[in-house]
Amino acid sequence: MAGIIGISSGRNNKVVESVVREVLAGTGKNFELVSLAGKLIRPCEGCNGCADTNRCVLKDDFQQVADLLLEAEGIVFGAPTYWGHMNSKALAFWERICFAGRHNSVFPLSGKPAVVVAADGTGNGEFVFKDMKVYLTDARINLVGELAAQGEYPCFTCGYGNYCPVGGLIEYFPLGTEITPERIPAITNQHPEECDLAASARDITAKARQVGAVLGKVIDFHNSKIKREPD
Ligand SMILES: Cc1cc2nc3c(=O)[nH]c(=O)nc-3n(C[C@H](O)[C@H](O)[C@H](O)COP(=O)(O)O)c2cc1C
Repeated sequence: MAGIIGISSGRNNKVVESVVREVLAGTGKNFELVSLAGKLIRPCEGCNGCADTNRCVLKDDFQQVADLLLEAEGIVFGAPTYWGHMNSKALAFWERICFAGRHNSVFPLSGKPAVVVAADGTGNGEFVFKDMKVYLTDARINLVGELAAQGEYPCFTCGYGNYCPVGGLIEYFPLGTEITPERIPAITNQHPEECDLAASARDITAKARQVGAVLGKVIDFHNSKIKREPD
């Protein structure tokens, strides 16, 4: 695959995926967006089956996504926070990528530029950024941008959300508030609980595209350096 791989470990067509898509669009490059939603990605077993080939030997949906990652010129990876970490599908994916790649100091993703997208209830992305830093550092991946978004708690659509004392909605709205579309966070509707937010902060599409544009430029710069190198 020539171009950029975008990977979302969030739900189909929800906040993580839509932000990853806009970052990809902003790069101005060919891209492929893969969702891990519905895919089976087992965690690393530490079996050392990857020691000789630097490829994970577990058989599931990991291999096809890992192949795209290895071939790509750049990476956009997005994950939601679940329970104070990035979700376990993202953790499982990067456990296997990193352990397989590091035997004999091969590090096949070394130097690839990457953007990390995070979504959570707060919109600050701290847990995903912290977790991803561990994996990007280990894989020698070059982090060129981070973007956080406020995500949509599943509580918005579970059917109990507006009367649930342990759900996500009470972080934003008083118990019993009616759930209307304009109260649901989305890439174009960040922080609906804040009435006075500027339109530019409400819709982060342009911000996502700017982050993507930086990734595109880093790739161009990298390619121009490769071309200038003497034979
Ligand atoms: C099981 C689960 C646990 C979650 N835990 C947290 C959490 O600890 N902190 C937080 O801010 N948001 C948490 N969330 C909210 C998600 O981060 C939010 O729904 C995010 O938008 C999901 O991404 P997606 O919409 O792209 O699927 C949790 C959601 C789920 C389903």
